Amino acid sequence: MTYARIAGIGSFLPEKVVTNKDLEKMMDTSDEWIRERTGIKRRHVVSDSETTASIGLAAAERAMADAKVGPADIDLIIVGTATPDKVFPATACMIQRRLGVKGCPAFDVQAACSGFIYALDIANRFIKTGGATTALVIGAETLSRITNWEDRGTAVLFGDGAGCVVLQASDEAGIISTHIHADGEYEDLLHVPCGISIGYDQTRSGRAFIEMNGNAVFKRAVETFDKIARETMADLEGEIGDIDWFVPHQANMRIITAAARKLGMPMERVIATVDEHANTSGASIPLALDQAVRDGRIKRGDTLMFAAFGAGFTWGSAVVKY
Ligand SMILES: CC(C)(COP(=O)(O)OP(=O)(O)OC[C@H]1O[C@@H](n2cnc3c(N)ncnc32)[C@H](O)[C@@H]1OP(=O)(O)O)[C@@H](O)C(=O)NCCC(=O)NCCS
Repeated sequence: MTYARIAGIGSFLPEKVVTNKDLEKMMDTSDEWIRERTGIKRRHVVSDSETTASIGLAAAERAMADAKVGPADIDLIIVGTATPDKVFPATACMIQRRLGVKGCPAFDVQAACSGFIYALDIANRFIKTGGATTALVIGAETLSRITNWEDRGTAVLFGDGAGCVVLQASDEAGIISTHIHADGEYEDLLHVPCGISIGYDQTRSGRAFIEMNGNAVFKRAVETFDKIARETMADLEGEIGDIDWFVPHQANMRIITAAARKLGMPMERVIATVDEHANTSGASIPLALDQAVRDGRIKRGDTLMFAAFGAGFTWGSAVVKY
C-alpha cells in the first residue's frame, strides 16, 4: 500500500511583529481584552514588499531542504490560500516558477482557514493513486491585506505567515485518513463581501475587508469541532489515546480548548501557537506543526491529528503518522 508521508516541513513568519499593545494605540481595545477572549498576544505582519507567494516560497524552500529534495523531484504543488497574490495565475504557479520547478500541476485551493487541510487531502489522493510522488502542500496567507484596521472586532484576530509540508510516496505509514466538508449556508457569517465578479463598490472604501459575526462563528466553530471529533473517533474506532498530538487550526484559544475537550485530549498534548501567531488561516496548522517539530515535542513515529474550520463554512481533519 502506498502512503503519502511527511518528508519535510518548513515555515516562514514575516519579521514585523504587531503586539496587542501596538493595537491599543490604533483602536479602542486592550491587551487584557484580546488575551482573555482569544489568547492572542502578538501577530506577524508582512512588509510592503512581501506577498503570499514570497512567504509561501520561503516556507517551501525550508521544507524542501528539510526533506532533502530539489526542484526536479517536485511533481505537484498545491497552495491553500484565501489571499492569493493575483486573481490569476495561481500563487502555486508563481511559487513553481521561483523554485525552478517545470511542468508539474500547480494550483491554489480556496477553502479559507481549512485551505491547508483541503490541499493535504487532495495531495494525499494524488499520491495514493500514483498521480504524484513528491508534492509541496503549502498554506500561505497575508490576511493583513484584507484586515480593516478600524474594526476592532476583526483586526485583533488575524496574522500573516506560511507553512509547507513535502509529501512523498512511501511504503511506511503517513497520512492515515482525511476528511473535508463544506456547508455554504453560512456564507454571510464570515466573508469578504466583495470581489472581481460582484464588484467592490459596496464596500466602505473600495477595499476588500474581512467581515464577521464573531459570536455566531464562535458557536458554529465549537459545534463543528464536535462533528470532527466524532468522525475522527469513528476512524480510530474510538481510541483517542492513539493520538499523540492534536494540531488544530489556530483561531482562538477558547475554540482550541473546547475542541480538545470534545476530543478528550489533555491540553499537554495540544499544539497551540495562536498566542504568538494569531489566526493565520490556511497557514496556521503547518506553522504550528513546524514549531512543535523544531522544539522537539513532535517526533518521528508520533500520530498527529489536524483539524480545521473556516469561512464557507469549510472544515476538515487529517490523522497522520509523522
Ligand atoms: C471575536 C470574538 C473574540 C469576540 O468575543 P466575544 O466574547 O464573542 O465578544 P462579543 O463580540 O460578544 O463582544 C463583547 C464586547 O466586547 C467588545 N469588543 C469587540 N471586540 C473588541 C476588542 N478588540 N477590544 C475590546 N472590546 C471589543 C464588543 O463591542 C462588545 O461590547 P458591548 O458589550 O459593549 O457591545 C469571538 O466571538 C470569537 O473569537 N469568534 C470567533 C472568531 C474566529 O475565530 N473567526 C475565525 C474562524 S476560522
